[in-house]
Amino acid sequence: MDQDHLNNAARKTWKFGRLRSLFIVTAGATAVVAGLTAYKKQEQMFRTFVMPVVRLLPAETSHHLAVLACKYRMCPVSQYQDDINLHTPFFGRLLSNPIGIAAGFDKNAEAVSGLRDLGFGFIEVGTVTPVAQEGNPKPRVFRLSNDRAIINRYGFNSEGHQAVLQRLRLLRSREDFNGVVGVNLGRNKSTMSPIADYVQGVRVFGPVADYLVINVSSPNTKGLRDMQNKDKLAELLEQVNNARSGLDTNKKVPIFLKLSPDLSLDDMKDIVWVIKRKQSPVDGLIVSNTTVSRKNVESNELASQEGGLSGPPLKARSTEMIAQMYELTGGKIPIIGVGGVASGYDAYEKIEAGASYVQVYTALVYEGPNLVADIKAELSSLITQLGHTSVQDVVGTNSKFYLPKK
Ligand SMILES: Cc1cc2nc3c(=O)[nH]c(=O)nc-3n(C[C@H](O)[C@H](O)[C@H](O)COP(=O)(O)O)c2cc1C
Repeated sequence: MDQDHLNNAARKTWKFGRLRSLFIVTAGATAVVAGLTAYKKQEQMFRTFVMPVVRLLPAETSHHLAVLACKYRMCPVSQYQDDINLHTPFFGRLLSNPIGIAAGFDKNAEAVSGLRDLGFGFIEVGTVTPVAQEGNPKPRVFRLSNDRAIINRYGFNSEGHQAVLQRLRLLRSREDFNGVVGVNLGRNKSTMSPIADYVQGVRVFGPVADYLVINVSSPNTKGLRDMQNKDKLAELLEQVNNARSGLDTNKKVPIFLKLSPDLSLDDMKDIVWVIKRKQSPVDGLIVSNTTVSRKNVESNELASQEGGLSGPPLKARSTEMIAQMYELTGGKIPIIGVGGVASGYDAYEKIEAGASYVQVYTALVYEGPNLVADIKAELSSLITQLGHTSVQDVVGTNSKFYLPKK
């Protein structure tokens, strides 16, 4: 054989090798995409296979994976069509349904589009602090599996205002995104001026958020909850309102105040006094954050972990407090009800206690993404079965039932 012939043979073998690799890569990629597509439709797979495996991982690792799955749109796209009785007005917008994801899941606004795919009617990102900070040392999240609850002491781990702002701006520039996104504002651990941190939050996010949340109720930042005290709260809300008035935007971004479930009735009365003043009003309340109480989980070996407890052990207290705030405000201030919601029935209870909207977090960790559609379907049929035509019809219809028994 001469040299040319050898070269030709080598070239042919090389070409064939490349074609074969190309074929394998293409076939592999097609199989992965087809698998993922089919997988996305196999919602049951999440409940029976993915969620139990995810729960074997440390809680914070699972949390990161879940955020990544939403970020890269690898979670199932909900096929559930929201019934018209779930459509709910929200400060000039119309939510397709009143079920939102609570703060703390998507702290840095990375997963908003994926969370919309799951079927949430609105999304709250944060808590965001002005400057990036790491939060508390790990481990700082614990699953109390027997109680389907969580204790967390993340301590406002945040990428900071600017990183979150960039992501939200990008989202707003996309033509296919018209979702309702709230931004939950916090303060840095070692700030010299806590009020200034919130004021800065209003200025930075006012122009891009559909609502803002003043979070003074997380139990994991020293001194934070003291800002719920009458005088401090009055000053904080006055400055927050001034900052909003100074925004160079046409719309007035609604401001919500997120409360702790550990407040006494007197504390709540003080808060209502503050938010009724014309200098320090809020447009809505979020009831509630996590609790430092360990009622209902006393026998759990993880109960002694420091941090805020969420999930079913918090449910009754949060519903009771919704009813209390609904009564104290005469039903005039919309409430987002959150704490232990794991079914459409739970959501219905929050609404008849006085909530206009409902948020979920901990149950999603245990049940997986199909939970959102399950809650909506059950809530929708309860509304109809009980003779109502919309979520709004139900708000506060049974608030007295949930008030503390004398
Ligand atoms: C792991 C974890 C992190 C949380 N982080 C925040 C947060 O950053 N800001 C906030 O306002 N609430 C945060 N929360 C509280 C939730 O938003 C919600 O108020 C509380 O968990 C009650 O709802 P649930 O029982 O459905 O979880 C967090 C909750 C959990 C479980």
